[in-house]
Amino acid sequence: MNLLLVEKQVIQLCEEVGNFIRTENENFDRTRIEQKGSFSNLVSYVDKEAELRLVQRLSEIIPGAGFIAEEGTDSEGTNEYKWIIDPLDGTTNFLHGLPIFAISIGLTRKDQTVLGVVYEVSHKECFHAIEGGKAYCNEKEIHVSNIQSLNESLLATGFPYYHTDKKENYLEIIRIFLEQTHGIRRLGSAAIDLAYVACGRMEGFFEYNLKPWDVAGGAFILQQAGGKVTDFSGGNNFLFGGELCAAGGVHGEMLKVIKDKW
Ligand code: IPD
Ligand code: CA
Ligand code: CA
Repeated sequence: MNLLLVEKQVIQLCEEVGNFIRTENENFDRTRIEQKGSFSNLVSYVDKEAELRLVQRLSEIIPGAGFIAEEGTDSEGTNEYKWIIDPLDGTTNFLHGLPIFAISIGLTRKDQTVLGVVYEVSHKECFHAIEGGKAYCNEKEIHVSNIQSLNESLLATGFPYYHTDKKENYLEIIRIFLEQTHGIRRLGSAAIDLAYVACGRMEGFFEYNLKPWDVAGGAFILQQAGGKVTDFSGGNNFLFGGELCAAGGVHGEMLKVIKDKW
């Protein structure tokens, strides 16, 4: 498999589907918002149509590859490759006209991620990486931040929509980070949070209850940019385990706080 060629095709696809998402956002009619189970878990025809377009073309790029995708495309496939995709990460932002949303694509081979693409639609910033290579934002090589201390860090997180049984522990972690850092951002797109840590705009990101499609692409890009991604115990179960702590030089300090309070 020529991953460089696959990456090129995926980037081009993201630019095309990104154009569709951007155009729809300019004229979006809020009566077309739909709820998925709860009043805060939202979706629209744009998420669904973007997924259809991505799945159709990705199936041509690697025939027989399986899929895990947020809006329902799920298939085992007939080879060792699997696409993990979120056609629109940052749906709530999108629906409110807040221009912070992305397409997130990861590709696994035998359950190991080998490609990640996060396309930030509004600024046309494409973050990407393949196995054995560096990480890039468009054509520019990117690296995680060198900062080694929480006191000099800007962090990101998200507030889960559901399963908030650990709410108090989470709020306690947030309180500590608020006291020890330059601040915490909640951008509303985990894929963009990961991409921004990968390029050093923020030092770290943590969240729980994330899904594989939120993190597959971005976590891989962040790793290829020199960062570390773990679950809240410091293990590797961040893709399907719902807990993620990702950072450059402050990963150890972040994890210590999280482990202590979780
Ligand atoms: C959401 C975003 C958000 C995170 C949520 C995700 P969606 O994805 O990544 O930042 O906090 O947990 O579900 O619904 O916009 O695709
Ligand atoms: Ca998502
Ligand atoms: Ca989504």
